[in-house]
Amino acid sequence: MQIRNNELVTLSASSLTSTPAFTRTLAVSSDSDLDSELGIGAPIIDSLHCDELDQQRLTLNVLRLDQIHPTLGGNKWFKLKHNIANIRQQGATRILSFGGAYSNHIRALAALGKLLNIETIGIIRGELSKPLNPVLAFARQQGMTLLGIERSLYRKKEEAEFLKGLKRHFGAFHLLPEGGSNALAVGGCVELAKHLQGLPLRMPDFVMLPCGTGATMAGLIRGIGDLEGDKPQVLGVSVLKGRGYLEDRVRSWLPARTHAVIPQWQVLEDFHCGGYARLSPQLASFLQWFETISDLPLEPVYTGKLFYALFQLVAAGYFPRGAEILLIHTGGVHRCSGGASSPAA
Ligand SMILES: Cc1ncc(COP(=O)(O)O)c(C=O)c1O
Repeated sequence: MQIRNNELVTLSASSLTSTPAFTRTLAVSSDSDLDSELGIGAPIIDSLHCDELDQQRLTLNVLRLDQIHPTLGGNKWFKLKHNIANIRQQGATRILSFGGAYSNHIRALAALGKLLNIETIGIIRGELSKPLNPVLAFARQQGMTLLGIERSLYRKKEEAEFLKGLKRHFGAFHLLPEGGSNALAVGGCVELAKHLQGLPLRMPDFVMLPCGTGATMAGLIRGIGDLEGDKPQVLGVSVLKGRGYLEDRVRSWLPARTHAVIPQWQVLEDFHCGGYARLSPQLASFLQWFETISDLPLEPVYTGKLFYALFQLVAAGYFPRGAEILLIHTGGVHRCSGGASSPAA
């Protein structure tokens, strides 16, 4: 079912009255050497209860990837883990990547570089404003070299000539794309499905997550495809405008032919709230309301839109009565600027 904006019930802080409560359990821990080396923990699962869900007998659990590590938490770890294993195997000692001034990827990469003693370079879209914002200040503190370049130049980040220039300047480096999204990142996100199988609860009917490039979603779909038994439907909430764009990207990362049974999946395109890193009045009011029912931390760029989409769908009666829903909390940096106008991919 495709949900369109005009079919949705508009929620406002005053129309929602809830008696929330939390229950907490642990998902399966990871068995990878790199996870143990870095102290990546098993994700916690929080159950969220409120009137809106209870009235339709919906169960809502949240897989707290944001809690797996103090600096590497969120989907970023899953996107980086196979990349980093590959980089170490190749013996590369310097990684260069790209991102916006609030990039979660740049933040996580800087932290990982420090933990593994690998030099990191972050090429940042736009001039570096002084003082550095908390994300870039953190990255620098972790030892990352930062270079802000003007947007017109930044757009050339995939061009061979431009990359050659960077190599002349910095010396040889291993290149990770903006947002860390590549085939190895998708491979790392396949591992997310393990955490569903190990749920102490039953397999959910729906799994929802926010999507920026679609790499995390593609990995999750592939991972679920490999699981035995019932498969949840995967709903990706697009945080950006662009009809069909993310669906194509996700599809491009799925195998053309496979023996696995790929679960049903769909990219929901009506919850971008004005576009990437935009904060609509509806989203702002939802986030304010959410703070009154839960202390689960949400930011407006990714997880805020995920939860906004969920509650819109609930209000529209999208989920069958009694359905079990799992939301993947992908982390993200919490900004109190309100405007959230700077990209964070
Ligand atoms: C916190 C957070 N959630 C979700 C996403 C979206 O992930 P993807 O680009 O793999 O769709 C990102 C970007 O990587 C992110 O930083």
